[in-house]
Amino acid sequence: MKVDVLLGLQWGDEGKGKIVDVLTPKYDFIARFQGGPNAGHTLQFNNIKHVLHTIPSGIFHSEKINIIGNGVVIDPVIFKNEIESLEIVAQQNTSIKTGKLLISKKAHLILPTHRILDAASEAAKGKTKIGSTLKGIGPAYMDKTGRNGLRVGDINTPQFREKYKALTQKHEKMLHNAKFEYDLSEYEEAWFAGIEVLKKYNHIDSEYEINEALNKNQKILAEGAQGTLLDIEFGSYPYVTSSNTICSGACSGLGVAPSKIDNVFGIFKAYCTRVGSGPFPTELFDETGEKLQKAGHEFGATTGRARRCGWLDLVALKYSIILNGVTHLIMTKVDVLNKFEEIKVATSYKVKQYKENGEIEIIETDRFPYNIEEGIVEPVYTKFKGWNTEISQITTKDDFPKELKNYIKFIEDKLEVPISIVSIGPKRTSTIKIES
Ligand code: GDP
Ligand code: IMO
Ligand code: MG
Repeated sequence: MKVDVLLGLQWGDEGKGKIVDVLTPKYDFIARFQGGPNAGHTLQFNNIKHVLHTIPSGIFHSEKINIIGNGVVIDPVIFKNEIESLEIVAQQNTSIKTGKLLISKKAHLILPTHRILDAASEAAKGKTKIGSTLKGIGPAYMDKTGRNGLRVGDINTPQFREKYKALTQKHEKMLHNAKFEYDLSEYEEAWFAGIEVLKKYNHIDSEYEINEALNKNQKILAEGAQGTLLDIEFGSYPYVTSSNTICSGACSGLGVAPSKIDNVFGIFKAYCTRVGSGPFPTELFDETGEKLQKAGHEFGATTGRARRCGWLDLVALKYSIILNGVTHLIMTKVDVLNKFEEIKVATSYKVKQYKENGEIEIIETDRFPYNIEEGIVEPVYTKFKGWNTEISQITTKDDFPKELKNYIKFIEDKLEVPISIVSIGPKRTSTIKIES
C-alpha cells in the first residue's frame, strides 16, 4: 500500500481540515507531516465547529490512528489546549469518541523563547514583516536546521531540563542583543504543564510505524498544513512559512520514500485568499474583494485576522500542480460564489522584465515568475457568467447549474487534472464527490 497526500495549492486555508475529516473513513492512519500551530484546520459536523492546530484532522473518527509526524513542530502549551478542547467536545457529545494519537519522537518542540524571537524578528522587520502567526514557527525550524532543537524524544531523558535551559539562555542572549523586552515566567510555567500532557502520549518512531502499516496494506493519508505558495523553497519567498508544504514534505516529514506516494489531492478554493503579508497578484481591493471576504467568512482560524481575497489564479495553481504531482483536484467554497453575476479567473500574467540592453519589455506567460510583486505582474483574466443561485441543497454534480459546470470544465481543461470533489459548504455533508 502507498500513502495518499492531501495538501493546499494556494496560500493556506483551502479547507484541508474539512476534507481530511470527510476522507478519513477511507483510511487507517491520518498523519500531519509539517508545520505547527500556525495551522488552523476547521471541521464542522453534528453541530460542532472545531479548529485543530497540531492534531491531525482524522481525530474525530474513533477507530483511526492519528500521527503527528517528525516534520511537525509542537508547542506544548497549544497542544495541551487542543487536548483539553477535544475532551470538552467528547464530554458534551457522548456519541463522539476521538481516535488514537501518536507523536513522533523526532518532532521538534517550540520553546517559549521561540515565540518571543518570532515577535522580535517581526518587530525588527517593521513594514517588511512576514505577517507571521507569531507561533514561533520560524525560530523553531531555524533551531532544527541549525541543529540546536529539542525534540519530543528528549522529554523523558534526564538531560531535558538542562538542554531546555541551555537553548533558552542562548535565545535570551539574542533577545538581549536585540533589546527586545519580554516576560518569560508565566509562559514557561504553562509550557512545562504542556510537557506533562505530551508525556502521556506514545512517542513513536513514526517512520517505522508508517512503513510497517504500509507493509500490512493499511491505508495512510498524509495531511499538509499551509499551502504550496507558502513553501519555504517554492513559495513567495520571503513571505512564506519555514517548512516544506509541498508533497516532498510528506516524504521527509513522515519518513516515507517518494516511491511510496500514491494519490496527491491538491485542494484549492474556487477563489483565492491570503493572510499575512506578501504579494498576491489576483488580490481585489474593491467591493468585490469585500464581498468574497464576507460571503466566505474569511477570517483566520488561528489568528482571527481578516484574509485578503481575490480571484482564482490558474497560473499559480498550475505551478502548484507541477510541484506536487497532483493527481486529483478538490475545489472548496464554491458556494461563496453563489451571488456573483460575473466571475473572473487569471489565466496568464503580463510580466514586466528587463532585456539585455536594459530596456523594459512586457511578456505574457502562464509560468509563475520569480517575482510576483504588484507592478511586475499583472493578471490576465477570463470572465465567466456566475451561476448566481443557491447551491447548498444540491447533492449530485448533475444538478449543478450549467454555469458552474462550465466553470469546473474550464478549470479542469486548463489544469489538465480532474476535479474529484467539490465542496459547497463547511459541513461534512456539503461535499459532492465527482469521481473516486
Ligand atoms: P484549512 O486551514 O485548509 O483547514 O482551512 P481553514 O479551516 O483555515 O479555513 C477554511 C474555512 O472555510 C473554515 O471555516 C471551514 O469551515 C470553511 N469551509 C470549508 N469548506 C467550505 C465550503 O465548501 N464552503 C464554505 N462556505 N466554507 C467552507
Ligand atoms: P493552514 O494550515 C494561512 C502564513 C502567515 C504568514 C506566513 C508565515 O491553516 O492553511 P508563520 O506563522 O508560519 O511564520 O507565518 O504564513 N500562514 C498561514 N496562512 N493558513 C495557514 O495554515 C498558515 N500558516 C502560516 O499568515 O503570512
Ligand atoms: Mg487554516
